[in-house]
Amino acid sequence: MIILLTGTPGTGKTTISPLLVEELNCTLIDINQLVDEKQLYTGLDAKKGYKVVDMAALEGELQKIIDKKEDDLCVIIEGHLSHYFPLADFVIVLRTEPSVLEERLTKRDWESSKIHENLEAEALDICTWEAYQTHGSRVHEVDTTNITPQKAVNIILKIIYGEKSHPPGDIDFSGFLTG
Ligand SMILES: Nc1ncnc2c1ncn2[C@@H]1O[C@H](COP(=O)(O)OP(=O)(O)O)[C@@H](O)[C@H]1O
Ligand SMILES: [Mg+2]
Repeated sequence: MIILLTGTPGTGKTTISPLLVEELNCTLIDINQLVDEKQLYTGLDAKKGYKVVDMAALEGELQKIIDKKEDDLCVIIEGHLSHYFPLADFVIVLRTEPSVLEERLTKRDWESSKIHENLEAEALDICTWEAYQTHGSRVHEVDTTNITPQKAVNIILKIIYGEKSHPPGDIDFSGFLTG
């Protein structure tokens, strides 16, 4: 089983993934860590200070790790680029209402333009939309705005066990853009 845990920065991927790993007894692949470790980037965007990730190399590395695993494969791939990986049983997109996301992101040492870019992406459902292009009905959205990380994990477990479905479309944060 391959679970991709994606979402705009600050929606809770890094907080939730170890809890989910414990429940499912899965292997965790942290994309940010993998990109740094294996230097899977082509350079730096000088203006924004982002690393430009080499997506083909990243996919190759992920595939290598998965190929090495035994038959009882259970992997959680965590990171806001994880939904670009073409293989998945479940794609969980974490969502957060942009004004709450703003509170979470202002705690990071980020330029305000970078924060606002991400708030806008969240309001426009960018991650969900991108994930849906590749993974269709395997995509589920979980809103972490007003719940604890453990509650979010419980919802994800219900999705994985087939007890619940959270298809894209129910969440609408577009009000953030119009004020
Ligand atoms: N339900 C929730 N799930 C996950 N994180 C939450 C939740 N509610 C509040 N948070 C907080 O939001 C922040 C999410 O940060 P992080 O997990 O690093 O996000 P990401 O890895 O997606 O960038 C943490 O400070 C976490 O404590
Ligand atoms: Mg993270």
